[in-house]
Amino acid sequence: MSRKIVVTSALPYANGPIHIGHLVEYIQTDIWVRFQKMCGNQCLYFCADDAHGTPIMISARAEAISPEKLIEQVYKEHKVDFDTFFVEFDNYYSTHSPENKQFSELIFSRLNEAGSIVKRNIEQAYCENCKMSLPDRYIRGTCPRCKAEDQYGDSCEICGATYQSTDLINPYCSTCRGTPTLQRSEHYFFKLADFDKKLKDLIAGGYTQKSVSNKLDEWFKIGLKDWDISRDGPYFGFKIPGEENKFFYVWLDAPIGYMASAKNYCDKNNLDFDKIWNSAEYELYHFIGKDIMYFHALFWPAMLIGAGFKPADKLFVHGFLTVNGEKMSKSRGTFIKASTYRKYLNPEYLRYYYASKLTDGIEDIDLSTDDFINKTNSNLVGKLANLASRSGPMLTKKLNAQLGQLDDKGKELINKLTAAKEQIIRNYENLNYAAVVRIIIALADEANRYVEQNQPWVTVKNDLKKTRTSLTATINAVRILTIYLKPILPKYAEKVEKFLNIDEPSFADIDTVLQNHKINDFERLVERIDKEQVNAMIEESKETKSSEPLTTGPAEPVKPECTIEDFEKIDLRIAKVVKAEPVEGADKLLRLDLDVGGPQKSVLAAVAQAYKPDELTGKTVIYLANLKPRKMRFGLSEGMILAAGTGGKDIFMLSADTGAKPGQRVS
Ligand code: MSP
Ligand code: ZN
Repeated sequence: MSRKIVVTSALPYANGPIHIGHLVEYIQTDIWVRFQKMCGNQCLYFCADDAHGTPIMISARAEAISPEKLIEQVYKEHKVDFDTFFVEFDNYYSTHSPENKQFSELIFSRLNEAGSIVKRNIEQAYCENCKMSLPDRYIRGTCPRCKAEDQYGDSCEICGATYQSTDLINPYCSTCRGTPTLQRSEHYFFKLADFDKKLKDLIAGGYTQKSVSNKLDEWFKIGLKDWDISRDGPYFGFKIPGEENKFFYVWLDAPIGYMASAKNYCDKNNLDFDKIWNSAEYELYHFIGKDIMYFHALFWPAMLIGAGFKPADKLFVHGFLTVNGEKMSKSRGTFIKASTYRKYLNPEYLRYYYASKLTDGIEDIDLSTDDFINKTNSNLVGKLANLASRSGPMLTKKLNAQLGQLDDKGKELINKLTAAKEQIIRNYENLNYAAVVRIIIALADEANRYVEQNQPWVTVKNDLKKTRTSLTATINAVRILTIYLKPILPKYAEKVEKFLNIDEPSFADIDTVLQNHKINDFERLVERIDKEQVNAMIEESKETKSSEPLTTGPAEPVKPECTIEDFEKIDLRIAKVVKAEPVEGADKLLRLDLDVGGPQKSVLAAVAQAYKPDELTGKTVIYLANLKPRKMRFGLSEGMILAAGTGGKDIFMLSADTGAKPGQRVS
C-alpha cells in the first residue's frame, strides 16, 4: 500500500544567500522525497523563507529598503538557487504570509486559552538612538571574563564564556555604537515546563535519533524554562492580537510557516489541509540541522500539542558542514554560495558528494575538496558515466541502436544488480545514503568487469551478434544503476532516460529488462572536474576579515547618515612625520610627531602592525587638523593621520610625497 507523507526542511532566513552548508539539508531532504516518490508513495515537500525578525529588519535598514522589499528579493534568489540544485519543493512559500499570520494567531490564542501563556515583566536592553530593543547579538562590548573587546552580548568568541548582555563591560549597540539603556517591558511567555511529561513521552516514542535524544535528556535534566515569545516594536513580524506594539518572536511563527506552506498548497490544489496536516493518514517529517534542535524537539511539538495539533512523526537531524576539516570560512574562501558554486561546477556533483557522505547520524559532514574531486572523477565519471559512454555510442554507430537479448552471463550480471534493490531501498529510507552510494559503486565495478571480460571493442570487429548481446547487458546495467541513482542525480538520470529511450522509471521498473529495444543517440553525461575549477571557486569566495558578517546575522550595519555638511566640518592638512616611535604597552600604536606648519603636533596612530617607525619618518601624510585632542591611556593625541583598512597589517596610509608644504590645506 502506498504511503502518504509530508516532509519539510528548515526555513532558511530571508536575509542571506543559500550556501553549501544549507545545501546539505535541502539535498538530503530532496533525495529522500524523490526516493519516496519513486517508490510510488505520495510525498509532499514544503518549505518557505523565514522572513521575520531583527536581523532582517536591520539588513533592510542597512540597505535602505523596506523589509518587505528585502524578503521579496531574497525569496527570488533562494528559488533560483534551489532550482539550480534540483531541490524540488511541492510548495515554497514565505512566513510573511496571510496563512501564517492566521495560524500564528490561532495557535497563540489556543495556547492562551489553555493557560499555557503568561505575561511577565522583564528588563531589556534598548537603544535610544536606534529606537529599538536590542537582542543579545546586537549588543557588543568587552567580555566580563577575559576582557576581550568587541564581543557579542551572549558569549565571548575568545574565551567561550557565556553571560547576560548586562554583564558586558562598556556595552554598545552594534548598529550605532550608542550605549544601550535598560527598559522594563511586559513580555509573553510560553510555559514549556508544563509539557515536560508529554515531550518525554514523545521522545521515548522515537521522535528523534538516539544521539539527539541523549542531548535532549541533558536539557530535561537542567529543566525546561518558560520561553519568551514576544518582542517589542519596531519589529518585523506579526503583531500580537490586542497589543499595540508587541509582536510574535520570529521563532514562534517560523515553524508555523511549515503549516502555512502546506495550507497554501492545499488551497491552490483543492486539497483538505486538515487531512494532510493533522490526520493519521499522513506521516509528517521535519529535516533540520543540529543547531535548531531545541526549537524543533521541544518548543515546536509542545506548541502543537498545546494547540491541539499532532506533532511530527519524526525529526531527522543532520550535522554541520565543514570544509577541509574546518568550519566554513569567508577568509579561507570556503563559505561558498550556491550561486558561486554554480559558476564553476555541476550542481549534481555536490548532490553526489553529499550523498556519498550522508548517514542518519548528527556528526558533521566534511567536504574535502581533494576527495570531492577524486570521488567525482573516479566514481561518477570514471565508473558510472563511463559504463554508458563505452556501450551507448557503439550500439548506435555499429548496431543500428538496437538492443538484443540477454544471454546467461548477462542475466547473471543483471540479477546481481536487481538483487540489491531491497537493500538500497532500506538504506534510502533510513537516510543512509552513504551506504546506497557504496552499494551502487560496487555494482558499477561489477558491470565494468563484465565489459572488460567481454571486450565489445574487440568483438565488434568480427562478431556483431555477440557484441549486441554483451552491450544489451551493459545497457541494462546502466539503466538499473541509473534508477538507483535517480533520487541523487535527477538530471543525470533524465539524460540517461532520453538516451535509453525509456519513460520516467520508478523503483518497480528495476525488475524489468530492456530487450529488442531501440535506443537514442548518446549525449555526454558528465565531465571530469579540474582542480583549477575548484580553486577558482574558492578564490572567488574569499572575503577579507572585516566584511565577514556575523554568520547568522546581517552584514555589519551602516551607521546613521552623515550629511555633506557634517563631512565638510573636517579640515585636512599636509603634515610631515618628524619622528615616529613605538608606544610602550600598546602593540598597535605609534606616536608620530608632525610638522604641520605651526607648532608641532603629536598623534597616536593605530598603524604599528602595518608600518615600521623608520618607514614613516620623513614621510608626508594627510592630517585631520581640527579633531578635538583626545586624552588616551598612552598620552594626548592631537589629531589624526588619514589611514584606512580592515585592520592589522592591512592599513594603508594616504601618502602625499609630492613636495606639498606642511600645513597646506587639502581636499
Ligand atoms: N530560519 C531558521 C530555521 C527555521 S525552521 C522553522 C534557520 N535558518 S538557517 O538559514 O540558519 O538554516 C536553515 C537550515 O540550514 C537549518 O536546518 C540549519 O541547520 C541548516 N544549515 C545552515 N548552515 C549549515 C551548515 N553549515 N551545515 C549544515 N547545515 C546548515 O535556522
Ligand atoms: Zn543603536
